Amino acid sequence: MPTSCPISIAESISEAEATHIAHEYGLALASSPDAPYLAVTETGLTLFIQSEKNALQFCPDLGFENALQRQEEGKTLLVNALGKRQLGETIIDATAGLLRDALTLRLSGFEVIALERSPILYALMHEALKRAKDHPALRLALSKGFNFIHTDAKDFFSATKNNTPAAVIYLDPMFEESKKTAAVKAPMQALRALLQHEDAPETLLEAALDSPVKRVVVKRHKNAPVLVAKPSQQLAGKSIRFDVYQR
Ligand SMILES: C[S@@+](CC[C@H](N)C(=O)[O-])C[C@H]1O[C@@H](n2cnc3c(N)ncnc32)[C@H](O)[C@@H]1O
Repeated sequence: MPTSCPISIAESISEAEATHIAHEYGLALASSPDAPYLAVTETGLTLFIQSEKNALQFCPDLGFENALQRQEEGKTLLVNALGKRQLGETIIDATAGLLRDALTLRLSGFEVIALERSPILYALMHEALKRAKDHPALRLALSKGFNFIHTDAKDFFSATKNNTPAAVIYLDPMFEESKKTAAVKAPMQALRALLQHEDAPETLLEAALDSPVKRVVVKRHKNAPVLVAKPSQQLAGKSIRFDVYQR
């Protein structure tokens, strides 16, 4: 999938390896890339971002203890927002990002189709998934029922309009607030740097609502206005809220 994304793979890896990775993820190769760029380090595919103030390296670790714990903490509200569901039903996480919510859903017993539009984020997280496949807490969950796809969710919705594979579509568009906050954690800084040209979240929600699923769930900042129409239900936590559109 060729892309015009302005990111490159550093020369620090062998040409053959660089070409292989570039080809796998449709990324452009450059011999002396400007940051941000990707490189293969000892830990795995890593994003390097240089800003005026600092340099950031980001190599996601899905098996990291704190990350798994966070899945547990955020789990209840998200699972409640899905409504009464049978375990094993399929949920589309249409904004996969760092895969935290997608893994929460999978570890809660649902099958997950996770969609990510950004080629860089897809490459980083796809490599992180490969590394996590042997992690004791993730091995089983990732061995089946977890499908990570590089696509724009709007394209996926329109391609599956007459035959949707899922009961629920879940959306977590980037919060406006987190784009502005300076003191965000490294992974969020990485996300923010990569995703400056996001679609309006309303457009994505409207496309999801056109899909013949039973329910659409949107994560919002607790005090943010609703995106479109009036949700059938709202579930609020300490800082976030889930708006539920029941069909
Ligand atoms: C706030 S992040 C989601 C974080 C995610 N819920 C998690 O738990 O890590 C939003 C993500 O949605 C992706 N995204 C935005 N619009 C999209 C679209 N139309 N199709 C697929 N992915 C999209 C962005 O690239 C970004 O990675």
